[in-house]
Amino acid sequence: MTRKILVTSALPYANGSIHLGHLVEYIQTDIWVRFQKMRGHECWYVCADDTHGTPVMLRAESEGLTPEELIERVHAEHSRDFAGFHVGFDNFYTTHSLETRDCANEIYARLLASGLIEKRVIEQYYDPLKHMFLPDRFIKGECPKCGTADQYGDNCEKCGAAYTANEIRNPYSVISGAKPEIRQSEHHFFKLSDPRCQTFLRRWTQTEGRLQPEAANKLQEWLGEKDDNKLTDWDISRDAPYFGFEIPGAPGKYFYVWLDAPIGYMGSFSNLCARRGIDFDEFWRADSTTELYHFIGKDILYFHALFWPAELEHAGYRTPSKIFAHGFLTVDGAKMSKSRGTFITAESYLRQGLNPEWLRYYYAAKLSASMEDIDLNLDDFIARVNADLIGKFVNIASRSAGFISKRFAGRLAAGDETLPAVQAIRERRALIAEYYEAREFSKATREIMALTDLANQYVDSVKPWELARQPEQETALHQACSNALNLFRLLTILLKPVLPALASQTEAFFDVAPFTWDDGQQLLAAGHTLHPYQHLMARIDKNQVVALLAANRESMTATPEVTAPPPAPAKEPETPEASATPATPPVGIDEFMRIELRIARIREAGHVDGADKLVRLLLDLGPLGTRQVFAGIKSAYDPAKLVGRLTVMVANLAPRKMKFGVSQGMVLAAADVEGQIPGIFLLSPDDGAQPGMRVK
Ligand code: 2FM
Ligand code: ZN
Repeated sequence: MTRKILVTSALPYANGSIHLGHLVEYIQTDIWVRFQKMRGHECWYVCADDTHGTPVMLRAESEGLTPEELIERVHAEHSRDFAGFHVGFDNFYTTHSLETRDCANEIYARLLASGLIEKRVIEQYYDPLKHMFLPDRFIKGECPKCGTADQYGDNCEKCGAAYTANEIRNPYSVISGAKPEIRQSEHHFFKLSDPRCQTFLRRWTQTEGRLQPEAANKLQEWLGEKDDNKLTDWDISRDAPYFGFEIPGAPGKYFYVWLDAPIGYMGSFSNLCARRGIDFDEFWRADSTTELYHFIGKDILYFHALFWPAELEHAGYRTPSKIFAHGFLTVDGAKMSKSRGTFITAESYLRQGLNPEWLRYYYAAKLSASMEDIDLNLDDFIARVNADLIGKFVNIASRSAGFISKRFAGRLAAGDETLPAVQAIRERRALIAEYYEAREFSKATREIMALTDLANQYVDSVKPWELARQPEQETALHQACSNALNLFRLLTILLKPVLPALASQTEAFFDVAPFTWDDGQQLLAAGHTLHPYQHLMARIDKNQVVALLAANRESMTATPEVTAPPPAPAKEPETPEASATPATPPVGIDEFMRIELRIARIREAGHVDGADKLVRLLLDLGPLGTRQVFAGIKSAYDPAKLVGRLTVMVANLAPRKMKFGVSQGMVLAAADVEGQIPGIFLLSPDDGAQPGMRVK
């Protein structure tokens, strides 16, 4: 029976790059989807960029872009990265779309009609300099439990305490450095505490097979016992300025990014339906018989297993069939780290010339259906890919294909159906299919490699290279190489969900239509003619991995270590106003000395078209050459008057690509963070200082 399946991966934020941590999920989902498609099912895989929210808005501002310009650029980067790793979305869209807005409005309207939306005035921190309410992640201060300075407004990295932003001591805005004020505002809440939601979620989350056992336990904990009423209402609105969808009938109020993010799954699918003539309602109506699966990281289970099904159910839509949560990625047993170079971006991996299918295979060999973290051990990565893919798998083809083209005009002899390796593949295909279906990819690859060993045992036993030296063994050589290539073809079919590009090269080599799962039942007919063999995959050279780490190593700034995409980027200070923060914790002299401050002479200063805060400076660093810097000082300085003066710059700030060009550093200026004294004051050295001198 043909199944109708809709699959999603979590939507990546539109303000960051795709890294190897993200790719665990996209590769996992893609393998599963490719398997379903090979089985002949109607399976659609959709995703989109998660574009809304404060971090995107601020990031765009810091780059001198509109949010729309930023998300368009990032969409192109993400699309390139996903394509580079053969992640075959049927649609990679954006949440900033008419389709998502329509779905969000519809869901909101239906929840409102069901009496599940409530408006309530709340108190929240407000940044008086930036004129905006502050999300908790944009407030820092001292931990109310242990007193550690510089902790985020929701939890302490030192003692692990969780708290609310108004408990934090001496809070300051991460954006402007200002002391935030408490202000009141009316917010919209989704009434998760309503008995209808609680009753529904208790039933939904405990339905057999809906969630992995670990996830179901977590949900049980969050929901508590019957009558516990542990769920609190969910705040789904944010005040302007906010990049998002304005709530119908509520001017100045926007849907919180997490409200419209999962709705982006529907929006992306709706867009695909319009283009491909698929019936959207068949997949989303309450009594749908189609299947819906969300692949997610374990950190966003709360959103997908509580808020999302409750929203869907009470808005009259179907709910997900299953939610598949996975663990985080560690590299060499530790969190990904920028200082060690293990925070590896997808783009850098591809740019260094590493084969994306090496990583796909390695992840597959590690992935199971559980929520456990997986480790990318770089030595093991090299060893396993070289041993399994090159030493065992591709080797079967490379040891036999040349003889078929050179000695037999590319024509195969009949394959031997009775070979033990052929029999074993036929016997174990069903089990391997079960493993794929159950997302037990490590078990699937282990089985396939055991079959690959059997195929190699056959090749080793017949030794085509020896037969080739004996003219009277021509027929035996033809038979041996034809058998080896038939085995190689059967194994490629089993590995196709993991290695789609290699499978496609193999299809071209065999001159056949794209492999389906059922193609693995038969051998090729005698006389089938092959194209000349091209080498299918190279070995990993350790130096490539060394170069990859070097390309990702950032040594000059202390950067946070992360396993998952960070919840909100701590905005890099761009303008002088933003670079001043009050009473930050002390730094050691070594840490300070890593910041290279130098005297610079402003050689050129000019307006930047389309940027009303920025001045473009060309700075002369004497023997160190010149640097271009975009500085947010236009409100205080006429560019023409800056030319010729000396100032101080951070000379080893990582270059930053902006819409207008690359900014290669930062000039230093003072500003009153309390906002009492207006103005920006560029630093100047005393007479005698020369361009290029180090400031200490
Ligand atoms: O955690 C994240 O990266 C979110 N951008 C995932 C959103 S998934 C879905 F809900 F849209
Ligand atoms: Zn603490």
